[in-house]
Amino acid sequence: MERLGADTWATALDFLYDQAAERAMGDPLPYPALRASFFGSTGGPAPAPVSPTPIAAILEEFRERLAGGQMNAQHPRQFGYFTPPPLPVSMMGELLAQMTNQGVDVWHAGPLATFVEEEVVRWLCDLIEFGPSAFGLLTSGGVMANFMGMALARDGHLGRILDAGRPPRGAMLEGVRVYASDQTHFSIARALDLLGFPPETLVVVPSDDRFRLHGAEVARAVARDRAAGCTPFAIAAVAGSTNTGSVDRIGELADVAEAEGLWLHVDAAYGGGARLSIRDRDRVADLDRADSVTVDPHKWFFQAYDIGGLLVRDGTHLVQTFGGRAPEYYRGGETVEPDAHEATDQLNFYKLSFEGTRRWRALKLWMSWKHLGTEGFGRLVEANDDLAAQLARRCAQSDDFEAIPEIPELSVVCFRHLPGGLEAAYALPPGELDSHQDRLQRALEVSGDGWLTTTQLRGATWLRAGIVNYLTTEADIERLLATLRRLATDGV
Ligand SMILES: Cc1ncc(COP(=O)(O)O)c(C=O)c1O
Repeated sequence: MERLGADTWATALDFLYDQAAERAMGDPLPYPALRASFFGSTGGPAPAPVSPTPIAAILEEFRERLAGGQMNAQHPRQFGYFTPPPLPVSMMGELLAQMTNQGVDVWHAGPLATFVEEEVVRWLCDLIEFGPSAFGLLTSGGVMANFMGMALARDGHLGRILDAGRPPRGAMLEGVRVYASDQTHFSIARALDLLGFPPETLVVVPSDDRFRLHGAEVARAVARDRAAGCTPFAIAAVAGSTNTGSVDRIGELADVAEAEGLWLHVDAAYGGGARLSIRDRDRVADLDRADSVTVDPHKWFFQAYDIGGLLVRDGTHLVQTFGGRAPEYYRGGETVEPDAHEATDQLNFYKLSFEGTRRWRALKLWMSWKHLGTEGFGRLVEANDDLAAQLARRCAQSDDFEAIPEIPELSVVCFRHLPGGLEAAYALPPGELDSHQDRLQRALEVSGDGWLTTTQLRGATWLRAGIVNYLTTEADIERLLATLRRLATDGV
């Protein structure tokens, strides 16, 4: 085991210094070519190995076949899809969690892991200023947390509105409405689909010129729908959208939710991290007024994959929605005469969750939080916000870049290169400016000097830099722009 650990760690460090630090996107071959080069002449997956292979040869295969083809989170100009370089302590926490292999579902399968998760969930609840009756749990990510948030809204809140006496199903899900902006993560719509709602349930309300959803717009949509005989029951807001990092007007939406009796779910999967900074936390204010909140520590808490989370203002909603089934082989908390092993108040996370067996996700965050403290975390978040502001400022100061919105809300910057300057670029034939951004993104990927993505905003294509990277410096921001300029001049 000692040698296995040492050899694997050496392989990991070689990957870090020889690959990840060198190129933001390891192998920039397009999909079909990379697939062909990985699978070789058969063009598809090899059969499962029948005979054993020594670990040294497998590590060698990692070095040879895999290390060079990664999307490298540890590159200082990695600005992709909210994949942070994981904190080293977080990786170590993951290792210890794998070694102990706790299953945090029924209490006895992870006795102390359960308490560590309870503690981390409490810290997260405190971070968003939820009160003592709040609770939650860790999930595979924001998609699962959003799904569960919508399930709570359906089974608890909608059930109460309809006075159903049971979780609404079937025809009861018709004619009800949920409000979200055009910047909401796709997982909200997917959750509503899978929870049995018809497609017209989700009402997409336009966001403002800074991509934020306002209370007045939602109030208008609610009034219109009520007049048409529909039953509004929830708002799904986003605090830190994937596209631009925009933060919906949560306070206004909470006012509407209160006045109209709606469940307010806030997806703060990314933006929740800003709560770690005393300086910047008000950029995601009023989360405490939500009924349920998604927070993904594997985004802006710099945690190794995976760790998401759902926090609920009244934590009893979780067990009401998910606690209905108790398999005969999970005895904890079910006995009539509780003894030391089976207390009735026993915390069994499987009863609060859609998921069953869950890894000990809390440990890496617990260790990281102790190691950095909220202060240390806050400084990393602030540095990212400052870098985003720098990038947007540089765009505003130049004639050949522009950012939208001009001042980023958090640490995402959407910007585009304007070949020949603003006037010339705006005079280009339709579509040309858009395809220029795509070509530029690809050229940067091929160069290895950085990585960002593109997105579509109001029908136009923009470069998108999601800065959740504590290895990035001010010089990296300058270099990103210089490289893009050079690639554009070289004729992308
Ligand atoms: C705002 C937001 N919500 C939810 C998610 C989904 O999170 P995950 O992919 O971790 O499940 C993302 C992912 O980028 C996100 O940006």
